[in-house]
Amino acid sequence: MMQVPILLDRRARVPLHRQIYDRWREGILSGRFAAGTRVPSTRDLAAMLSVARATVTTAYDQLTAEGYLESAHGSGTFVSRALPDQPATRIRVAADPEHPPRVRLSRFAARLEAAYSRPDPDHATATIDLSKHSPDVDQFPLRAWRRLILRHVKAIASPGWDAADRGAGHEGLRREIAAYVRRARAVRCEPSQVVVVNGSQQALDLCARVLIDAGDVAAIEDPCYPGARQLFAAHGARLHPVPVERDGIAVSRLPERARLVFVTPSHQLPTGVSMSLAKRLALLAWARERGVVVIEDDYDSEYRYGGEPVPALQGLSDAASVVYVGTFSNVMFPGLRIGYLVAPPALVEPITSARWHADRRSAVLEQAALADFLREGHFERHVRRMRRLYGRRRDVLTSALTEVLGDEVSISCDGVGMFVVVRFSSERVAARARRQGVRLNSTARYYLGEAPPHEYVLRFSGVGERTLREGVRRLAAVR
Ligand SMILES: Cc1ncc(COP(=O)(O)O)c(C=O)c1O
Repeated sequence: MMQVPILLDRRARVPLHRQIYDRWREGILSGRFAAGTRVPSTRDLAAMLSVARATVTTAYDQLTAEGYLESAHGSGTFVSRALPDQPATRIRVAADPEHPPRVRLSRFAARLEAAYSRPDPDHATATIDLSKHSPDVDQFPLRAWRRLILRHVKAIASPGWDAADRGAGHEGLRREIAAYVRRARAVRCEPSQVVVVNGSQQALDLCARVLIDAGDVAAIEDPCYPGARQLFAAHGARLHPVPVERDGIAVSRLPERARLVFVTPSHQLPTGVSMSLAKRLALLAWARERGVVVIEDDYDSEYRYGGEPVPALQGLSDAASVVYVGTFSNVMFPGLRIGYLVAPPALVEPITSARWHADRRSAVLEQAALADFLREGHFERHVRRMRRLYGRRRDVLTSALTEVLGDEVSISCDGVGMFVVVRFSSERVAARARRQGVRLNSTARYYLGEAPPHEYVLRFSGVGERTLREGVRRLAAVR
């Protein structure tokens, strides 16, 4: 029989049976206790360690259940004979945390690594953040939301509450989304075309999964929302950047062959332009002729300050070639992570299956509450209120910029969305911003081609009027 140098720490908070288990497990995995070795009986080990026999029995039972020990009837207990050769196990246990073994990644993962953008170091030091796209969560009607969540928490036990939806989303929510986008965005759809997702980003990912094979061409706006561009690149798409003109993507410069084209027609990110009707019709005709799918990302179209929002591109189409993508996170609160897509009928099944394989479906509680939030009118009331509030903030920001910076700034103000685009006359303004703790978002990261110099996206939706004024004041030179 082996000598068992097990040291127990009687003052530790770890129970003695757990300590015995741990020592055996380590000894066996490291190869110190070889396969097939007989181990002391529970009675002997209890005596050696001066502990109750039941303590040892508990440890042995666990080790046996996990396959470290085996007992041969009548002849004792042994280190399991089925354990792999010692050298391999030693490597596993002795792995140096500083130098983990190399894992061979897929091509997808390698492309992800290249596309992923690191957080910028200025972020932590900024005290006024004009770069963050966030709604003003303090204005969110929390009481109504809490009431609806509670209503559905209470209903959890009722039959059919958690009815399986095979990935397309909560039935009631799909109906409400279809009604909302028909009403507010002139999208042509049936509830069966709506797929509920975890934010717009998942909608884009699902489109990429079902439309792109490595090497396929994806036409994108240049400049383009990096979250979309990097995602398509990670899926192996060959990106074909198409310039954005004053009235939207240059349709005449779209590539002959593409699998999809990604556009933000209501409010192009980051130029802020809205796509003209002529361009919309030309784009749809181009896509239909070639069987290309248009992905319409309608990210912040709810907010048009001088009138009704411009209807969605999808509503002009025969609905066969446009995937319309929207989100609730930017209107309600970012942590909600609920968005949706409206797919042409032929794409609903593949997208839903892709969703099912990725992560099944979204959490039901929030979906059920959101269905009521829409049905009872809270959502659209909130949008109307925020439109007034954000409109004021946008005015405060733009007039402060003009007042304080004069001819050091030119502003493209297009009356839509949650940001304005500004161009400074030199890099001096941004340098002052950095020194004064004001965080700005350069448009450079949106461009594949050369970006215009000193151009920034300023986001005002999550920042109060006083802070906006203060932020702009800090951009001014000390006179
Ligand atoms: C144009 C655009 N599309 C999609 C997204 C992603 O939206 P979500 O947070 O719903 O995934 C963003 C986020 O900033 C965006 O700006």
